[in-house]
This record gives sequence, C-alpha cells and structure tokens, in this order.
Amino acid sequence: MACFAGLVERAGYGLLQTPIIEDAAVFRRGIGAESEVVGKEMYEFADRDGTMLALRPEGTAPVVRAYLQHRPALPFKAWYVAPSFRHERPQAGRYRQHHQVGIEALGPADADLDTEVIALAAEFFAAVGLRRLTLSINSIGDERCRPAYLELLRAELTARRDELCDEHRPRADVNPLRILDCKRAECQQVSESLPHLVDHLCRDCAPHFARVRDGLFALGIDYVLNHRLVRGLDYYTRTTFEFASAAIDAAQNGVGGGGRYDGLVAALGGPPTPGVGFGIGIERVLLACDAEGAFKVAARPLDAFVVDAAGGESARRLTAVLRGAGLAADRAFDGRSMKAQLKAADHSGAALALIVGPEELAAGLVQLKPLRTPGDQHPVPVDEVVAAVRGALAEGAGESR
Ligand code: HAM
Repeated sequence: MACFAGLVERAGYGLLQTPIIEDAAVFRRGIGAESEVVGKEMYEFADRDGTMLALRPEGTAPVVRAYLQHRPALPFKAWYVAPSFRHERPQAGRYRQHHQVGIEALGPADADLDTEVIALAAEFFAAVGLRRLTLSINSIGDERCRPAYLELLRAELTARRDELCDEHRPRADVNPLRILDCKRAECQQVSESLPHLVDHLCRDCAPHFARVRDGLFALGIDYVLNHRLVRGLDYYTRTTFEFASAAIDAAQNGVGGGGRYDGLVAALGGPPTPGVGFGIGIERVLLACDAEGAFKVAARPLDAFVVDAAGGESARRLTAVLRGAGLAADRAFDGRSMKAQLKAADHSGAALALIVGPEELAAGLVQLKPLRTPGDQHPVPVDEVVAAVRGALAEGAGESR
C-alpha cells in the first residue's frame, strides 16, 4: 500500500476514498446492466425508502460519481484502495470480497495519459518484485467506429450462431463483444477468426492507439496485442489493457487491468469528459508474489521485550519510552510470572529482554539480557535505557556478522 501510494502520489494522484455502498444506478448506468459484473454479480438490496443500493463491485464508477458531485478542477487524478464485492464462485484468486488499488485520471483525452497509467501499473508490479507478467493491450474504438464494427460482428455471429457456447448462442446480437471475452472453448474458437477491431478504427482512434504503442515502446514497456481484450465492463472506449501473471492459475491470472472510458462521465449525467485508469487486485498480487517468491523482507523483528515482575508500571513506561524513540518494543500483560514473561520474550523474537524485578525497581535499574546473541545480562540505569538498547543492538549486529 505504502509502495503504491508513494508511486502514484509522485505522479500527481491524490487519495480518494468512496463509500462501500452506492446507489445501484451508479453501476447500472456506468458499467452497463448487460455486463456480467452488474447483471450477475452485483450485490443489490433495497434501502429503507426503497432506493436500490449496491455493494461496490469496482472502483471506477464511484470515483466518477464523486467527481460529478464535487466537481474538482480538471485534470482530476485520484487513487484509491477499495474493498470490492462480486457474487462469483469463490476459489483461489476469486473472492466475493476482494481489494483493489487503482487510479483514475479525468480530463485529458491525450494518448500519453493512457501510457502514463499503464506505466504506473507496470512500475508498481516491478516494485513489488513481480517478473512473470504479460501486458496485453487493445483498442476497442469509440462511438464513431465501434457501431460499424459491431454490425460486422453481428452479421458474422448470426451466420455462426450454432458454433457458440450455450450462454451466448441465444443472445449473440445483444452485445457481440462479449463473445470475444467468453472463456468457453466454443466461443474462443469462433472469435479467433472474427474481424479485429483494431483493423476498423476511425481516424481519431487509430492514431490514438498508435501513440499509446509508441509511448510504451519509448518507455521500454513490453506488451502483446490481444484483439480479444474487450474487458467485461461496458464503459471502455479506445485503449484496454490487462496484466496477467504466469505464476498463478490461468483462470484467475489477471492481476490488474483498465483502460479508457471517455463516455462514462456523460453516462452518469455529466458533460463529456474523457477518463482512463486501472484497478489492481491486491489478493491476486499477493498470490503471484508468493508463487514467485517475490517477498524480499520479513516483518520487522522486535528490538526489545519488557519483562516486568514488579507491578507492571515499568512495562507501561518503558515500552512507551522505547517506541517513542523509534524502537520496536512489546511487553507481557495480565501480571504473568517472571518465568512465563521470559518465555513470551523468547517467543516474540525480540533481540533483547529488559527485566525489571522489585530490586531493580527500587534501585532505578533495568536488567538488559541479549536473547539472540552471546553476551551477559547486565544492569543499566532506567534513564539510559534507550542508549543502552541501541548500543546492545549495534553490538549484537556486530556479533552476528
Ligand atoms: P476488473 O478487471 O474487473 O477492472 O478488476 C480489476 C482487478 O481486480 C482484476 O484484474 C483482478 O486482479 C481483481 N479482481 C476482480 N475481481 C476479483 C475477484 N472476484 N477476486 C479477486 N480479485 C478480483 C475493474 O474493476 C475496473 N474498475 C478497472 C479500471 C479502473 N478500469 C479503469 N479504471
């Protein structure tokens, strides 16, 4: 999270958190009622006044809704971390609640912004240590070139209706792009020989896509063209992209994806305003990191564990002093015996134990005991405990080198 925030904030994106619950119309109008996410997977329920609400299935439509409500100046660049809900069949990498980090940029129609957005996703994946990723890109045109292509597709699909999967056979003409997206073998086979949208782009969309590709080339970002990459949300126009991990199960290997959505602001009642962004699935990124052994650092170990057999006040004060000085410190609770506390200190993984018994308390001392490196237990004045711990840690680091 900190890694993502640092990366996108350096590129001018500010944090925007939207509510988990939105008016369901935001998603129906924004994503499309015919889409799988809204039609089959969205959790919808009636509010007390009968208004239909939805648990957020994704982060883009709410950001656009918030933009329209508050009208910040354009360009508007936002990032988010969003628990998202979809009624899917749960399995590894596919959950009914998942979390996305994402960015959305509203205002410019410039293809260089598409490149910036894709590059930021690529940089994030590189920063968390993922190497086995493929970036696929496509252009699905806009309202000028797509209708003619859809007609072409409908004509082809009507002729080949019998070859489609059971779900798409009866409704191939409702949204023919869904055939390209379908994971079933029958539809995949048909779509291999369907015309490619990139070959039918209009004179605005074609140079836009060429500029995105030039930009990726200039930044040294490898990609493959995938003419079937239409993505499951109906708001996309022009550029679409997805990152897939070769390290995790192919059915759920999409670790992040996004694209341009120049009609979404208008679909939610605003003036025509271009937009582009991506969403990255945190759980899938973690699965891919595990599979690639990408985690470089273990959690920070404790520097000191305070063992207080003299009433607990020392533990309260010493942990506060140590933490205030930037050291990692913990303690036992519930007035446990000295023996139990020493055992807890050992289990905690702390480098040192700081032991206070009644005698030490009376003398203003603390016993400092190295737990992981050789060295004798010795008393230090309670007022000098921070310096003593730092000194012992430095000595211990020297010993273990
Ligand atoms: P999406 O591809 O539907 O796009 O979701 C983004 C990412 O969320 C996926 O690539 C995947 O990693 C993760 N994801 C989706 N569903 C699940 C699930 N059920 N379980 C685990 N992970 C999941 C969007 O949602 C768009 N809003 C992205 C976008 C932003 N487009 C433009 N701006």
